[in-house]
Parts: sequence; structure tokens; C-alpha cells
Amino acid sequence: MSLAFKKETFRDDYTYQNSPKAIKRFPFPFAEDTYMYSVNIEPHTKGPVGAVTEFAFDIDEHYVAECEDKAKTLALDAGRYQALPHMAEAQWDFLELTMESLSNDYPDLFSLKKDGLLWTWENKPLGIKNTFTFGDSTSFDMDPMEYMGRQVQGDFVLLDQRNGTLYADAGFITSQADWSLAFDVGMAWHEWHGPVPQVTKLGVMDRALKFLMALQLGAPVRRLNWTMTINPRLDTSPENYPLWGGDRNKVTIDNVGELVHLRVELQSLFRLPRSNAILFSIRCYLINMNELSTSARWAKRFHRVLKSLHPDLVEYKGLTKFKDLTVQWLSKKDDGAEVALGT
Ligand code: HEM
Repeated sequence: MSLAFKKETFRDDYTYQNSPKAIKRFPFPFAEDTYMYSVNIEPHTKGPVGAVTEFAFDIDEHYVAECEDKAKTLALDAGRYQALPHMAEAQWDFLELTMESLSNDYPDLFSLKKDGLLWTWENKPLGIKNTFTFGDSTSFDMDPMEYMGRQVQGDFVLLDQRNGTLYADAGFITSQADWSLAFDVGMAWHEWHGPVPQVTKLGVMDRALKFLMALQLGAPVRRLNWTMTINPRLDTSPENYPLWGGDRNKVTIDNVGELVHLRVELQSLFRLPRSNAILFSIRCYLINMNELSTSARWAKRFHRVLKSLHPDLVEYKGLTKFKDLTVQWLSKKDDGAEVALGT
């Protein structure tokens, strides 16, 4: 498989754009004209060729630019990577899973050679090559989770399972939708999910936790989550709120198409072999309203979802300042006819 990596930015001049091919494979998350939280978990099995679910970890045309953006975020705030000491074994599990997946799934981009515990990893797009001893904490000049977190698109949390719940005890978080690793690290499932509205009465979090506690090795699962972001910005963290929060006031009916983005997270969860921890991967996809509207069905459906969205979700997702303008903009693309099944 050959991929042309784009030179683009996720901050300042925001040159990020999706090619027609990237738009076509965008993980549009709505199967109905309305949306409410649910336990939308399914097996993370191999999807169709070219789909974002074809492989365990999706590498796309934004790979190099996204890794550069991760490095910039970490240089400004080293706290975006944090791991509690008991997560060392889980970090090596994470390194093994990502190295094996990438080298098997994208052999012309990544390679992994093993000679006992002496491993050689090569990442061609980023120009990285290292021979190291698996499990030896002196292998890199950083922790193994940070080493691979910098080389795979998306964010990563390692969850420790104990006391009948899951704890977010390590994370590499540079493209989060307004939550803070520094705040959440060490927290338990119901603590970090505390701010999410509506879910307690729906029973979503209790059921999802029960399901995940029984997650089996070799049987990963996935779900989609979504929100909206102004500009194609990966790092919408609370720490940097002053850098992006005010952009929500800049939306007008004339710039909705360019400024307003649907932000979809492909979240997948893997049981890890040695530590029994769970890897939670959060892969972010951004598409602006102009790009989204190249699909008449998506524009129609998103118009209806947004128009009918529960006020608690509008507020929690931070859409209050630009939702009505976006609905108005999208209404021009909605002829009122039924959206074809499965779209
Ligand atoms: C937020 C569900 C797993 C971390 C949310 C939201 C939902 C949700 C519905 C609100 C999102 C929004 O409206 O944009 C679930 C379900 C899971 C799951 C069903 C099971 C697969 C996880 C895991 C983590 C996590 C494993 C690991 C850290 C978070 C965080 C937030 C969040 C940090 C933001 C909370 C805040 O506002 O501070 N989750 N989640 N979730 N989830 Fe999960």
C-alpha cells in the first residue's frame, strides 16, 4: 500500500484538508436522523479494504503532519504524556501491539525484526530506526508508551483493572476533545465519566464498564464518538482553551463551511497480554462542513441530528455558540426526503 503524506498544519494557519479519498473513507457516525448516547460497542474486526477499520490502527494521508503536531504539543506541555509507575509492563504491551500491528499491516512503511529480546524497529515515514531490548527501561531516552505514542495517529490511555473498575493510569493525549489527562490520570471509570450528561439514567456507563471488564485478549472492540470543533485543531485541550475557545465566536453564516468541523473519534479497546491492562485508543478524524456536504446524504442526516440534538448534549459538547448557524447552513442541503438506509 502506498500513501502520500500531506504537508499540513493543525494550528496557526490551519492548512489541513481532506483529499476526496479521505472524505470518502470518513467514519460518518450517524445511522439515524437522531442521536443519543448508547453502549455502541462492536467487535473491532477487519473492515473493508481502504476503510478506517481495515486495520487495528489506521494510518492515513495525515500521518506525518499529525505526528509533527503531537511533537509540538508535547514540546509545549510534557504533561500530555503521563504514566503511573505500576504501568511499566502495560507500556511494553502497548509498544508490542502497535509495532506488530503497524509492521504487519503497512509493511512498506514500518518494519519490526526480532532476535530474541533484541528488536529492531524502523519507521520509514518519520525516519526512525532503533535496535533495543524489549522490556529494558533503558532502551529509549523516553518511556516505551511515549516512544510509540509519538509514532501512531491518535491518543492512547492504558487502563488498569482492579477493585471492580478501570483506572486511567497512563496516557498519551495530544488530540483530546476538551478533557485533561493531567486532571484524569489515576481516576476510576465513574469518576472521569462524571461530567457526561444523561448517561446515568440511561445506564450506559454501568453496562459499558461491565462489558469492558470482561474484554478478552485477541477480541478488541470499538465504538464511534463525535463532537464538533472550530478549525481543524487536534489539540483542543482545557490547558490550551485560551488558544481555541474564542474561535467559537468567529463562526458566521458565510464561514460555517470552512470553519465548522465534525470531529469523529474511532475508539478501540484491546486487552493486553502481560499486564492484563486495557489499551483505549482514540483516533480523531476531522471534516469541515464543505467537505461533509460533498455527500448529499451526510449533509441531510447531520442537519437532522444537529437540529434535534438534546440541549444537554449541545451544552456538554460545547456547540452552543455555533450550532444554530450550522443547522441554518445545513438546512439548505436538506430537501426533507428520507435518507437512504444504512447511510
Ligand atoms: C466521555 C462513553 C470508554 C474516557 C464520554 C462520553 C460518552 C462516553 C458518551 C461523552 C462524549 C461526548 O458527548 O462527546 C463511553 C463508552 C465507553 C467509553 C460507552 C466504552 C467503550 C472510555 C474509556 C476512557 C474514556 C476507556 C478512558 C479514559 C472518556 C473521557 C471523556 C469521555 C475522558 C470526557 C469526560 C469529560 O467531560 O471530562 N465517554 N466511554 N471513555 N470518555 Fe468515555
